[in-house]
Amino acid sequence: MTGVAGFIGSNLASRLLAEGYEVLGMDNLAYGLRENVPEDVEFYRLDIRDKDMVPLFKGVDTVFHLAAKNCISDCQTDPVETAQINVSGTVNVFEAARRAGVRKIVYAESSALYEGSSIYPTPESEEKPESFYAVSKLASMHFAKAYERFYGLKFTALRYFCVYGPVQDYRRTIPPVMSAFIIKLLKGERPIIYGTGEKRRDFVYVDDVNDFHLICIENDRTHGRVFNIGSGVNYSVKEILDRVSKILHITPDPIYKGDLPGEAQVTLADITQAKGLGWKPQTPMEEGLERAIEYIRGEMKAGRIP
Ligand SMILES: NC(=O)c1ccc[n+]([C@@H]2O[C@H](COP(=O)([O-])OP(=O)(O)OC[C@H]3O[C@@H](n4cnc5c(N)ncnc54)[C@H](O)[C@@H]3O)[C@@H](O)[C@H]2O)c1
Repeated sequence: MTGVAGFIGSNLASRLLAEGYEVLGMDNLAYGLRENVPEDVEFYRLDIRDKDMVPLFKGVDTVFHLAAKNCISDCQTDPVETAQINVSGTVNVFEAARRAGVRKIVYAESSALYEGSSIYPTPESEEKPESFYAVSKLASMHFAKAYERFYGLKFTALRYFCVYGPVQDYRRTIPPVMSAFIIKLLKGERPIIYGTGEKRRDFVYVDDVNDFHLICIENDRTHGRVFNIGSGVNYSVKEILDRVSKILHITPDPIYKGDLPGEAQVTLADITQAKGLGWKPQTPMEEGLERAIEYIRGEMKAGRIP
């Protein structure tokens, strides 16, 4: 697995270990943390652009490729590094997998591919990337298809919507919206809303995403296909703040700031394809939020959030 020290990667590694799989994980720790990586993972601190990855991939059945430069605003300011990591790095992972005889690659795309679309819920066919990040993810898809076409390397592409849950990265300058609200409210500070708070987001809990990851390993009907992984329901940013506040018994008094550039107004997944394989998101929002709050509380108690 690449990106094992990140949010989705560390959660997936724990789940795979619990299911009895052996996990070898790599990460350059650009965003992720070593302590996020479960103890039983065979860990390598490595950049996905490293040319010497082939030996590590020998004997591996399925590669989950999650490492990426994935903060949209960072990608906008550095398109060259975005392409180096998300395109060249991804091709380097595909190439190492092919040379090592890996059976299958499951890799991360993003709902950002629908930035230019106004069809809701959005089906997989609506590819309209605009930002450098989204374009880099679309390039990966064409390489994945070419690797399958010319070398028979099986793949599944996953277009995650807003994944949330424990271990979500809250250290960024502008953390993901849920973590940002939880941290501010737990600290007794005023939460910040960028824009009017009317933007709507499709959130999906990380354990539900992991249910689909397991299907990708086991079900041949995922081969050569792209899947939206969202919940098929969306909430406005204000509604999310209300829900977090209600759980914490706080009346929020948000500070409104200017809109963040490059963010879609609405995301809403058409999850017909994934449901067709027997998957559906199971975790109610309240339950997912409570677990995310519990995690952040723990981080605060441990002094990791100043
Ligand atoms: N979390 C979401 O809601 C979401 C939504 C859409 C798409 N995605 C995609 O899913 C994947 C995982 O996302 P996440 O939320 O876990 O992100 P994350 O930032 O928590 O994890 C990504 C990991 O990749 C590592 N990494 C970055 N560049 C690397 C490099 N050059 N070499 C090796 N490792 C490197 C980082 O250190 C980090 O640990 C990413 O590809 C992201 O674009 C996530």
